[in-house]
Amino acid sequence: MQARAPLMIEHRLIERMIEIIKGILAKIEIEKKVDPVMIDTTVDFIRTYADRTHHGKEEDILFRELAKTDLSEEDQKLMNELIDEHILGRKTTRKLVEANSRYRKGDMSALSEIVSNLRVLVDFYPRHIEKEDKVFFPSARTYLSEQEDQAMLNEFWEFDRKMIHEKYISLIESFETP
Ligand SMILES: [Fe+2]
Ligand SMILES: [Fe+2]
Repeated sequence: MQARAPLMIEHRLIERMIEIIKGILAKIEIEKKVDPVMIDTTVDFIRTYADRTHHGKEEDILFRELAKTDLSEEDQKLMNELIDEHILGRKTTRKLVEANSRYRKGDMSALSEIVSNLRVLVDFYPRHIEKEDKVFFPSARTYLSEQEDQAMLNEFWEFDRKMIHEKYISLIESFETP
């Protein structure tokens, strides 16, 4: 198995979440309200799975390894663009959390902010994923030997193995914080 395989499998689950977010947006359009718990769950998926687990492997392992190689100007530019999009994802999620918290406290005007931030996610994620699957990952593969690719795959498994522990340790710590 190539190292990019687990990343591409993760993309498929993120795409399914994007479809679910589209459903949430359609429901808001009709009902003019949202269930804040559904937004909490969406944020948890984006933060824990899409950002920490998935972007984490891309940034902390794949991009780190590529930075050691002699990337073409074009690939370097593309990698920077992907990093910027990860940052945009984080900022959007933060704004979504803030809007959801205001909405929960009764500020109905926060609904339009929830909608606009969900729309940003629905708009950029599929394009980001397509860029990685069809352009960046195949190109990135040419900079690494078979051995380097397999070493990266092993590091991916090790990274994933820690995730569930990291998530629940941080949950407990957040409960313990007065
Ligand atoms: Fe990415
Ligand atoms: Fe990705």
